Amino acid sequence: TFTLSNPLRPAILAAARSDRMERTISRSKLTRKLVDRFVPGAAEADAMAAVRALVESGRFISVDYLGEDISHAGEAEETVRAYLSLLSAYRSLDLPATDGPAPLEVSIKLSALGQSLPGGEELALVNARTICAAAEQAGAWVNVDAEDHTTTDSTLRIVRELRREFPTVATVLQAYLHRTEADCRELAGPGSRIRLCKGAYKEPAEVAFQSKEEVDASYQRCLRVLMEGQGYPMVASHDPALIAAAQELAAETGRGSDDYEIQMLFGIRDGEQRRLVAEGGHVRTYVPFGNDWYGYFMRRIAERPANLTFFLRSLVSN
Ligand code: FDA
Repeated sequence: TFTLSNPLRPAILAAARSDRMERTISRSKLTRKLVDRFVPGAAEADAMAAVRALVESGRFISVDYLGEDISHAGEAEETVRAYLSLLSAYRSLDLPATDGPAPLEVSIKLSALGQSLPGGEELALVNARTICAAAEQAGAWVNVDAEDHTTTDSTLRIVRELRREFPTVATVLQAYLHRTEADCRELAGPGSRIRLCKGAYKEPAEVAFQSKEEVDASYQRCLRVLMEGQGYPMVASHDPALIAAAQELAAETGRGSDDYEIQMLFGIRDGEQRRLVAEGGHVRTYVPFGNDWYGYFMRRIAERPANLTFFLRSLVSN
């Protein structure tokens, strides 16, 4: 399901960055059906309907307003507005206050907040700060997603800055990057929240492991560092072997159910998500919404040959 075991993955991830492919694929009605499996809808109301159902089933959520790699500051403003509106919609859920992990979170992408524009690091920081302040008011957490490796240093700088003011701000580390085990060591301190994932972008061999075996082994090493650390590990994976490893490490390091969580994506392994909740663990489901689904969708397709076959068939019959 990952890298070498899926020889088309690099081509699909390259297509994920192509405007021409985006136009072709967005026009296909059958593709839309497959998109609906991973994205509950374009409108905030669609996201909130999914959130309500997930919360009722005992799950935590993290909502992502889809968007990345913007080219004008105006788009970043629109993204900020979408998050402020979403965070005020969270209030309608009326969840009781808790001392443990916050059930509600938003996931933000700095490239949607202006990171790659001229002077973008400062712009993304200011925009992220506005979202963090609104999240604090709404009793929700904020997670800063990880994008391609050229952004990692800038993203970690912004997260460090945000955490001075909003100590619960979390970020994502990607096990496929060679640097990540060291980043985990640095970021496993008290109060830190780290989402560990395999990594979803097309990365060169100079910076990233390329085979599933190496990525999985790196994930296991990183997981151990985070579990043995003082922070709150968030284990983002659908991989049964890694979830079992997380549960074993949690038992070994004396972590109770409030001391770590498993995270999965909307529409993937829903039965397993429910099973983990029934066992008493915390599961957070990542819920993307909005019109800009193309890059997100293509990364999901690249992850899994079965999705790919279905998807190619839908294009041919288009
Ligand atoms: P892997 O891809 O090896 O899959 C293991 C098994 O899970 C498969 O055999 C299959 O059963 C099931 N499965 C996996 N993907 C599936 C799919 N698309 N459809 C159906 N079944 C599937 N990445 C990133 O670079 N930056 C980020 O910020 C994030 N954020 C993030 C948040 C959350 C909550 C999750 C779960 C993931 C991310 N990711 C991410 C994506 C991550 O890096 C990775 O690409 C995917 O999670 C796929 O890797 P798995 O660990 O699931 O294993």
